[in-house]
Amino acid sequence: MEHPDNLILVIFGASGDLTSRKLIPALFSLKSQKLLPSQFAIVGSGRTSFSGDEFREKMRTAIFAVHGGRNPDSRLVREFLEQIYYVTMDSAEPENYSRLKGKLSLLNSECGTCGNYIFYLATPPVLYEVISTNLTKAGLADQSEGFRRFIIEKPFGYDLASAQKLTGKLHELISEDQIYRIDHYLGKETVQNILVTRFANGIFEPLWNRNYVHRIEITSSENLGVGERGGYYDTSGALRDMVQNHLLQMVGLTAMEPPSSMMPDAIRNEILKVFQSFQPLREEDVPHQVIRGQYLESRISGERIPAYRSEKGVSPDSRTETYVALKFFVNNWRWGGVPFYIRTGKRLPVKVTEIVIHFKRTPHHLFQRNEGPMNSNKLILRIQPDEGILLNFGMKEPGSGFNVKNVDMDFRYSSLADVRVPAAYERLLFDVMVGDSTLFSRDDVVETAWRFLEPVQNAWKNDPGIKLYGYPAGTWGPDVADNLVEGCGLTWRYPCNNLAEDGKFCEL
Ligand code: BG6
Repeated sequence: MEHPDNLILVIFGASGDLTSRKLIPALFSLKSQKLLPSQFAIVGSGRTSFSGDEFREKMRTAIFAVHGGRNPDSRLVREFLEQIYYVTMDSAEPENYSRLKGKLSLLNSECGTCGNYIFYLATPPVLYEVISTNLTKAGLADQSEGFRRFIIEKPFGYDLASAQKLTGKLHELISEDQIYRIDHYLGKETVQNILVTRFANGIFEPLWNRNYVHRIEITSSENLGVGERGGYYDTSGALRDMVQNHLLQMVGLTAMEPPSSMMPDAIRNEILKVFQSFQPLREEDVPHQVIRGQYLESRISGERIPAYRSEKGVSPDSRTETYVALKFFVNNWRWGGVPFYIRTGKRLPVKVTEIVIHFKRTPHHLFQRNEGPMNSNKLILRIQPDEGILLNFGMKEPGSGFNVKNVDMDFRYSSLADVRVPAAYERLLFDVMVGDSTLFSRDDVVETAWRFLEPVQNAWKNDPGIKLYGYPAGTWGPDVADNLVEGCGLTWRYPCNNLAEDGKFCEL
């Protein structure tokens, strides 16, 4: 495996949640696997004032919160913490950057990090342009002494125009190959496994097209509500928060043509082609092809679950969607006529992300099936939890006659001894360090995704008649979403039953 060059990782917004919950635990995990550069430092920066020791202590707590159960080697933790520094600064103020630059130069000569810097903007998106401008003005984006890479988190804009504006601004300062847009779903082992399942096996690919596939269904459900993020979420909603990025990226990997190589652009070009092949949605199609919902109060296992509108930071008459289901087509030779159904929502019965390839039925039905007439083979790529793959097919039920029973061939990653599924951020941080942008969203891919969803955003904005369906927390979302699925008796795959003990479906 490639080993990263020596470098300094600068995290803006280091006092925030992302740094403690994801970044530092992921970096420590890389350290445990000896995957960090031999000369390496982390510089946290933020407005909250910390001494170096205070920040290191906070990071120690963060490591134990995530890795505590595995009893991390205390010598390794100490060594790791010794590589962490902190600079208190307001990143919006240009004059602070000379101090940051001074600190980096000092560390660079002390640690021998060869002038290579990665800037992680773990900040609200409004600061992306400001920080990039300030870094550029301070000469810190210039790559003459070493590489300078910028990591940014979604949302990359909130619609097509704002995404184009952000990209345009960033490109005035730095080049596209310096930008790593994180979509953490692409860092998930099982999302990458879509490529391996499809392109390392001879058996699936011949069937992976309109001749054999009836429909494709992608679900990413969450059982939790918006929690502490109501303020952000109420301005975003499920379409922006999950569909524009995570769900469409999974569609891209599921539907793409085999790339000519594993080079970053070879893969991203194929994803772009899928996005460019989406049959454009028209505003007038939106009421029939897109269902939006919002969770209502209910009771689950005796516990009262609040409605979205009662969550902290959410407007009491909010019309933000916490659920979206969408039907669309990919107009190309492989997929022409095959419907794609995607859905995501908060406060659904379980947390599960899966891709279901529903194959066409046999042309002539010789046998009686026990589980109803509409059963057909399914390949289920389970992204999380229980990461794995499940093939569902018919078997003869032992005994007289020829009764067919559906059974599963089930592979679970957890059944592999000694295999730990690494966290998404481990893989993504490592890839930025070695300069591999394969798993990062490219500007044109992001923009094409926004372009596809623009009619949905416009229809919801312009047409007050488009319904927002309320669903009780703990159910699978608005029941009308079942009508999206074409075909008599067909519906979504429900990995488990509704959990709500009361509450009712209604229009909001
Ligand atoms: C984030 C969204 O990008 O993904 C969250 O902002 C969502 O709202 C999260 O909960 C889901 O990620 P995961 O990895 O838990 O499925």
